[in-house]
Amino acid sequence: MQILLTGCAGFIGSQLAQRLLSLGYSVVGLDAIDETLYSAALHRQQLAPLLNQPNFRFVEGDILSMELLSALTKEASAVIHLAALAGVRPSLSQAARYLRCNVEGTQNVLHACQQHGVRRIVFASSSSVYGAHSAVPFREDDAAVRPASPYAASKRAGELICSAHADLYGASIAALRFFTVYGPQQRPEMAIASFAARILRGEPVTLHGSGDSARDYTYIDDIIDGTVAALHRTSDSQLGFRAYNLGGERTATLRELVSLLESSLGRSAQVQWRPDQPGDVPITWASLDRSRHELGYAPKVDLPQGIARYCAWLTAPRPTA
Ligand SMILES: NC(=O)c1ccc[n+]([C@@H]2O[C@H](COP(=O)([O-])OP(=O)(O)OC[C@H]3O[C@@H](n4cnc5c(N)ncnc54)[C@H](O)[C@@H]3O)[C@@H](O)[C@H]2O)c1
Repeated sequence: MQILLTGCAGFIGSQLAQRLLSLGYSVVGLDAIDETLYSAALHRQQLAPLLNQPNFRFVEGDILSMELLSALTKEASAVIHLAALAGVRPSLSQAARYLRCNVEGTQNVLHACQQHGVRRIVFASSSSVYGAHSAVPFREDDAAVRPASPYAASKRAGELICSAHADLYGASIAALRFFTVYGPQQRPEMAIASFAARILRGEPVTLHGSGDSARDYTYIDDIIDGTVAALHRTSDSQLGFRAYNLGGERTATLRELVSLLESSLGRSAQVQWRPDQPGDVPITWASLDRSRHELGYAPKVDLPQGIARYCAWLTAPRPTA
């Protein structure tokens, strides 16, 4: 079975592609190698282990190109759509770009699926759709109508056009609300990766707010397990549109996160405190009732274990080029 995977040169996409190949799928990976968040060199490093595998084909290109998407979707049995401009903070200054990529790009993916009768779709959404006013733990039946940033709004809009598409064309679409994903190869601008790099270099770590803001963190392997389970779920032709939280089901404060990094790295952080940033929310926390029940999703790696694994990966000796 051939899967079109958009965003295959990203943090999550490259590791998901590896898993899909190991499960026997053929994967056509599409990615624009976008440098908004990190370098092309890092994207290519993530992509490299995939390139020599017989059932993998990489296409460098943009989801804003309808023609390209249409050609690639022709052979696919399912589409996993991860390509996006990610990250809350950069979306504030580049709202129009974020909306174009994440909303128009998603609509293009859906249109290509419609053209070629592809009815199984997995869409990468985000915990950010819940904003700052949803009751915790966040449940998928929350209206989620007050996103706190252009990024969050673009992901909620992506969900809504997926929902309309499912109703119009009888597609089965699982929208996965990922809760702060971390682990080896985490995007360098995300908190865990950037804090760890700064602690190792002896540079100050800037923390915003009081340190009490809390996040539900999800280890990458759990996200991959949940995404594969969601792909299987789309084989149910009656699924329609369905949102699923993929989180760790526990929260940690910013202070707790820094202290876990300090103990795993064996170094102290020099902390600089700054005010809250626009777009930030006080807490994210996933209810897993639906994803546990319908996907069999059960996160296995808790935060202390995951941080220890991440730090071991980060500090492992690497061959020099
Ligand atoms: N990492 C997280 O914690 C997290 C949380 C919630 C949601 N998500 C979502 O999961 C998905 C993957 O996130 P990630 O952390 O791997 O980010 P990432 O930036 O590493 O991966 C996204 C990939 O999409 C590609 N891309 C961007 N614009 C494109 C375009 N126009 N055409 C084709 N490719 C394009 C990028 O080059 C990149 O490789 C994204 O949709 C993101 O919004 C991630």
